[in-house]
Amino acid sequence: MNVHVVEHPLIAHKLTMMRDKNCNSKNFRELLGEIASLMTYDVTKDWETEPVEIETPLEKMTGTRLKGEVTIIPILRAGLGLLNGVINMIPHAHVGHIGLYRDPQTHKPVEYYCGLPKQLDAKCIVVDPMLATGGSAAAAITMLKEKGLHNICLMVLVAAPEGIKVINKEHPDVEIYTAAIDRELNDKAYILPGLGDAGDRVFGTL
Ligand code: URA
Repeated sequence: MNVHVVEHPLIAHKLTMMRDKNCNSKNFRELLGEIASLMTYDVTKDWETEPVEIETPLEKMTGTRLKGEVTIIPILRAGLGLLNGVINMIPHAHVGHIGLYRDPQTHKPVEYYCGLPKQLDAKCIVVDPMLATGGSAAAAITMLKEKGLHNICLMVLVAAPEGIKVINKEHPDVEIYTAAIDRELNDKAYILPGLGDAGDRVFGTL
């Protein structure tokens, strides 16, 4: 399976705090941002770098910088909760947005917005906290590929086995990074044990 579980005591600790139903929106948002920053370390660990000439206050030296452009693409709206944590680590990244909502009857993704930067050769990190059925993430990645973006990975907080299977099948080239793989989906396509509706918890719309 094309999935990396980003295992770290700090991430496990913070995710447990987020899962607690008594965690308020302020804490939930902050913890989500912190985990996103920590996960970015893992997501980028094999990224290509290139030499760069700089001058320290003392002398010239050859340093290192990330090669190429980076685009972070939150799937609206819950994906916005991960954005700051990632962009804090990669401040030169561009940001695109994809708007998809889940039809409450069919649970299928419906597109309502797509705004992307022009850098088609950019490395793209698609971010969405919950990989449930995989429908929204798979549709978002299909949209990106149709627009010419092909260097794509997916960062989520919690993944269901069902969603991982869908992404692996529809987009075998896309690496998934998650802080946890949970047990299953319930009949409303919520992840169990999960943490509830991530968008509602980020934005306090419970
Ligand atoms: N989206 C959420 O926010 N939570 C789930 O459990 C599943 C999808």
